[in-house]
Amino acid sequence: MTITVVPRHPALGAEIRGVDMRCPLDAATRQEILDAWMKHLVVVFPDQPITDQEHVAFTRQFGEPEIFHQTSLHLRSDRVREIFLVSNVDEDGRLMQPSEPSQKQLSSSRQWHTDSSYRPQPSVGSLLHGIEISRTGGITQFINMYLVYDDLPESLRRQVEGRKARHDFSMLSRLVGSPPPTEQEKAAMPPVWHPMVRRHPVTGRKSLYISSIYNDAVEGMADGAARRLIEELDAFAAQPKYMYRHVWEPHDVLMWDNRCTVHAVTPHDPNERRVMHRTTIVGSEPVTAG
Ligand SMILES: [Fe+2]
Repeated sequence: MTITVVPRHPALGAEIRGVDMRCPLDAATRQEILDAWMKHLVVVFPDQPITDQEHVAFTRQFGEPEIFHQTSLHLRSDRVREIFLVSNVDEDGRLMQPSEPSQKQLSSSRQWHTDSSYRPQPSVGSLLHGIEISRTGGITQFINMYLVYDDLPESLRRQVEGRKARHDFSMLSRLVGSPPPTEQEKAAMPPVWHPMVRRHPVTGRKSLYISSIYNDAVEGMADGAARRLIEELDAFAAQPKYMYRHVWEPHDVLMWDNRCTVHAVTPHDPNERRVMHRTTIVGSEPVTAG
């Protein structure tokens, strides 16, 4: 397989042409994809009309797919359990209302976050397949958190160096008013503390590691001050020079690195169907402080 890598933004994001995700990768191509991924942080494979099974099989070439621990809101597919449903259409094809619990919870993804940071060993990366895409919004925006860390003003840098922030899955329900996780789901995913500056295990680079949807506390700070700090960091990070905005085409598959990027989706008309399936690569190690 010969692949071509075409950057889409100077900060992050590149298109990879010449891959057929339905076929197993040879070792050299897999390595080329990995190199492009580590360099560009978010890679786009255009025109990949894959099945969920093919999606999972492709993911496995880069790591073990996560099984989403929360089943109460039906965000995990009943058909292929490695698939997380980022959709406003249920598996019987019914358009759901924004007031429904799963949709409320998904609305949190409009705020900057990185997937599964509430796990003791947070996710390596995610692969999102656009099956029915939005034309009224639903743009997925990514930020290069290496660059954000490098450019942090001194006043912010002082507040994150050597510090940890808490990541709690239950924060989602408090934030957007979705039903809280069940006792069993809470017990499966207790809050965890991660360094706010982390070192990437592959590239060795340092990045800012925060999440406005899961961070409910910062070491040594009162709640209000902690919240303001996360908001201030978000505002600094969300500058166009650090950001790639992905406008979806049907059957784009995006693969991003959860260790050095954050992402957020823009709102769209809720009467428009949006069907996206995601796999998430489980983390292989705890977060290393930078
Ligand atoms: Fe996400």
